[in-house]
Amino acid sequence: MLKLGILASGRGSNFQSIIDEINAGKLSAAVSLLITDTPDAYAIERAKKHSIDFLYLNPRDFKSINDFYARIAAELTKRSVELVILAGFMRIVRKPLIDAFPNRIMNIHPALLPAFPGLHSQKQAVEYGARISGCTVHFVDEGMDTGPIIIQAAVPVSPDDTEDSLSERILRLEHKVYPFAIKLYSEGRLSVEGRIVNINNYNMNSDYFINPPLSR
Ligand code: GRF
Repeated sequence: MLKLGILASGRGSNFQSIIDEINAGKLSAAVSLLITDTPDAYAIERAKKHSIDFLYLNPRDFKSINDFYARIAAELTKRSVELVILAGFMRIVRKPLIDAFPNRIMNIHPALLPAFPGLHSQKQAVEYGARISGCTVHFVDEGMDTGPIIIQAAVPVSPDDTEDSLSERILRLEHKVYPFAIKLYSEGRLSVEGRIVNINNYNMNSDYFINPPLSR
């Protein structure tokens, strides 16, 4: 059984979608630990509700930001976590954690990378006048939203969209795509060469690769 460690700073709706997929028997994995950098993150309530261990770590309690990430790596390693999931973790991950989990940290970003990296990507897409946006699941490297892409899925952008309306449409897709990417990992179907992620038995007709649900 694939052991997951979740890092979240806020609401944790992606965390919830992973819990739900596991509980529905669709994803063969278990969440070993939630780590948060925010004492009142709603993600903590979700962990409590599902009897998942959680840990609040304040970066300010550490001598350096590298020490903070070394501690996170130690906590995850102690619990034999195999795959680390960033679920709205609002920080750039640093070397001590990346080195401890090479190509074993995933992030979801609410845009089609490399377009609109960083914060407020939905607002960026609306203001840029993009016609299509979506979400990207990628492995994490030391850059900001630059790691090897695992899967992407698209939604249309309407000229009437606001940051909120587009965010909501993308989020609905995120909740399907992220568990799907973890499932690919859990089935041993992902391998990384440079920045290319190979997917064994890649199926072009799969909803999430070429024709994601476009429902609003
Ligand atoms: C999502 O939009 C995700 O793409 C981004 O941060 C947001 C987290 O939302 N990385 P939630 O905390 O999972 O609800």
